[in-house]
Amino acid sequence: MQKLMNWIEQRLPVKRVADMHAMQYPAPKNMNFWYVFGFLSMVVLVNQIISGIWLTMHYTPTAEGAFASVEFIMREVDYGYIIRHMHSTGASAFFIVVYLHMFRGMMYGSYQKPRELLWIFGMMIYLALMAEAFMGYVLPWGQMSYWGAQVIVSLFGAIPVIGPDLVIWIQGDYVVSGATLNRFFALHVIAVPLVIVILVFLHICALHEVGSNNPDGVSVKFKKDSLSKQDKTPFKIHQYYTNKHDYSDDVVPFFPYMVLKDFVALSVFLFGFCYVLFFAPEMGGKFLEHPNFEVANSLKTPEHIFPVWYFTPFYAILKAVPDKLFGIMAMFSAIVALFALPWIDRGHVRSWRYRSGFHKVNLLVFALVFVSLGYLGGTPQEAWKLIASQVLTLLYFSFFVLLFLYSKNEWTKPLPARITR
Ligand code: HEM
Repeated sequence: MQKLMNWIEQRLPVKRVADMHAMQYPAPKNMNFWYVFGFLSMVVLVNQIISGIWLTMHYTPTAEGAFASVEFIMREVDYGYIIRHMHSTGASAFFIVVYLHMFRGMMYGSYQKPRELLWIFGMMIYLALMAEAFMGYVLPWGQMSYWGAQVIVSLFGAIPVIGPDLVIWIQGDYVVSGATLNRFFALHVIAVPLVIVILVFLHICALHEVGSNNPDGVSVKFKKDSLSKQDKTPFKIHQYYTNKHDYSDDVVPFFPYMVLKDFVALSVFLFGFCYVLFFAPEMGGKFLEHPNFEVANSLKTPEHIFPVWYFTPFYAILKAVPDKLFGIMAMFSAIVALFALPWIDRGHVRSWRYRSGFHKVNLLVFALVFVSLGYLGGTPQEAWKLIASQVLTLLYFSFFVLLFLYSKNEWTKPLPARITR
């Protein structure tokens, strides 16, 4: 067996790569529970791929057959309802863990130098995830699928000059139809998942090149500083520690320490996930919207059209601006601002633990504004809600403007020489 392993290792470095990127990866010892959401995102990604493959075995991607095939999965296919709910609950779970994962990055300044590209890859994953979830929601061909697609695709029509033609090109027809459903199916089951998997790979490569940040935001130190500055890449660090079987005081090998921590998180996560899966798969109409249990009807507009909860903060920004084109631009800018965060934040201290009280308040207000916009975008429109959305939209953008202004000369606490806890 050992001979066989050696033979393979000489031709394909399975053990070396596993050691470098998993088993021996030097993880800062002070990583706290906020560091489990990257792992959980991967778990949910695998859940989506596996449950998605099984759904595809019974799903029919045509306007005539889609709704009935989903009903067939729910009622006739063995365990079909569990597979479907794994996928629909998984979509919401994906956004919950990814939002927490992003917020962690913002708290500890993990987007700052040298992790800008890592953040950009993360944002690209987030965009791809939104496209994936949007197209997946169209597939059951219920009322919300149809009208949601109608609303979102028609947004492209507001783009000057090319807008109307672009809408026809996206739809593959003059209206949202079976042709649209068919192409969304192709994109949802293969094209976008492939992009997401490639982006996750690049995300991890970029992380392991520069090493993990930590809740203190100060770089980890190595024993006796026996590595020169140029040598402090994870690869060299790995070589150093595996040769000496010795770890610095600041880092621990990923296995078993972080793996155990991640598995504790996984069991807690699975309790929540399975609870929703078995007892509240629709989550009161939040994870599966009730109008979507009615087949798509182009002659009957639902009373209220709003997207699933994870899109509603951006939907509220879109609706807050009376002009359609400016609304789209505001929504687009809300995402672009997140992309640009590494350059908007000009601070030299990463973690909010050592940043000013003003920064902490700014970040907490931002989180609160995001959640409130989500509430406003996901409930029927009223006059006061329009005004509230407008105020909150301004607050959303003021987070970035303020951060840009104060971060350069911000008052910060002295940084510890080494990571603390
Ligand atoms: C499919 C979605 C994603 C997966 C599977 C994923 C996976 C991971 C994993 C496994 C880690 C290392 C463990 C950890 O720090 O939690 C990580 C780190 C990181 N991710 Fe993601 N990620 C995803 C999406 C995102 C998004 C949307 C962003 C932000 C835009 C992001 C930003 C980051 C940052 C900044 C780090 C480094 C954190 C640090 O070292 O402090 N990720 N990611």
